[in-house]
Amino acid sequence: MHPADDLRGIKSEKLSKKRIVLGVTGSIAAVETVKLSRELIRHGADVYPVMTKAATKIIHPNSLEFATSHTPIIELSGQTEHVFFCGLVKDPVDLLLICPCTANTLSKIAHGIDDTAVTTFATTALGSKIPIIIVPAMHLSMYKHNVVRKNIEKCKEMNITFLDPNVFGNKAKMPSIDEIVAKVIRKIGKQDLVKKNILIIGGGTAEPIDDIRILTNRSSGKTAVALANNAFERGAHVELWYGNAKEIVPYHISVKNYETVKDLLKLLKNNKKTFDVIIVCAAIADYLPKRKKGKIPSGKNKLDIELSPAPKIIQKIRKGAPKSKIIAFKVEENKKDLKREALKLLIKNKLDAVVANTISAFGTDENEILIIDKKRKSITKKGRKEKLAGYILDTIK
Ligand SMILES: Cc1cc2nc3c(=O)[nH]c(=O)nc-3n(C[C@H](O)[C@H](O)[C@H](O)COP(=O)(O)O)c2cc1C
Repeated sequence: MHPADDLRGIKSEKLSKKRIVLGVTGSIAAVETVKLSRELIRHGADVYPVMTKAATKIIHPNSLEFATSHTPIIELSGQTEHVFFCGLVKDPVDLLLICPCTANTLSKIAHGIDDTAVTTFATTALGSKIPIIIVPAMHLSMYKHNVVRKNIEKCKEMNITFLDPNVFGNKAKMPSIDEIVAKVIRKIGKQDLVKKNILIIGGGTAEPIDDIRILTNRSSGKTAVALANNAFERGAHVELWYGNAKEIVPYHISVKNYETVKDLLKLLKNNKKTFDVIIVCAAIADYLPKRKKGKIPSGKNKLDIELSPAPKIIQKIRKGAPKSKIIAFKVEENKKDLKREALKLLIKNKLDAVVANTISAFGTDENEILIIDKKRKSITKKGRKEKLAGYILDTIK
């Protein structure tokens, strides 16, 4: 077995049985394609590299053969590889991903010119209606060229998906590998949450004690980000309201930040969208400190902080969204209390499901959860938070 095959599916099965042709062209970003193809393989895909001659001057074909286990196609032969993979055949590939794509290659595709292995694969895939994703990579000056812009628009009109660069100042940065992989999964994955509007409320609150100190909790934000990412990959329109937490939110997730319970109430009040599903996995303060102005002086022998109960956010969410499916999280110290307390929360707030876990979930990559729905059916699942996010979202289909 080739070493690349050992990687297949070690992260997820989201691209299991999916065959992807990876077209690589002569951009310096071609050096990223070893990592990109291996990440696609980690999610279960089989990746077939196709290169332009210019690409082979940037990255050696041996590197892509090592990364994917398949010898890159650089020149077409009597095997008519473009037809075998992307033609009107019984078992064509699931996707042609051209990454990185030069100004030259995308302009040729826009005009139906095929004089390299990559452009011939593109012409064939377009004729066979095989999904195509192009990740353009070039200096901002090339990206801004009028003709290149027109050619990008032409390609989009031909139903080609573009993963546009993130433009900062005078730099056009290709999306990260994680973002490309998430968008590939969204395009050819199971797509069972397409057209769903999903709001995830995650992270922790941070309540001020004085003007510089806060009272917060150990929420890592991992579950919220995993839920947002999983829903995105399955085709949903996702919005994440994100509090105080360390986990980095991927660029492709739309985020609104909050810090305090008051901020969260403001977000709710100003919200104009109707969500099909709202998942509240945030660690929201139960008690709010009375804020002192300025800085409480250090060096005191004793300091009392006055706390008062916080408003119950979940009740307000249910009241403001009577038709949405709402899933809340409940955390308890003891496992034996999970089901009882989850059920209480579910009934009291007319929720659709409650996910209960113990305090050991805070800050860790793995968790054990109990999901109970309104028919009082419950299941227990254990594993990495990314995987558990998938089970939680299965309950709302
Ligand atoms: C080191 C190096 C880096 C390059 N980077 C880019 C790039 O990022 N984007 C681009 O459009 N062209 C880039 N070029 C120019 C292309 O390689 C050139 O236009 C070539 O003809 C593209 O051929 P292809 O589209 O068939 O791969 C680069 C060239 C070199 C030598």
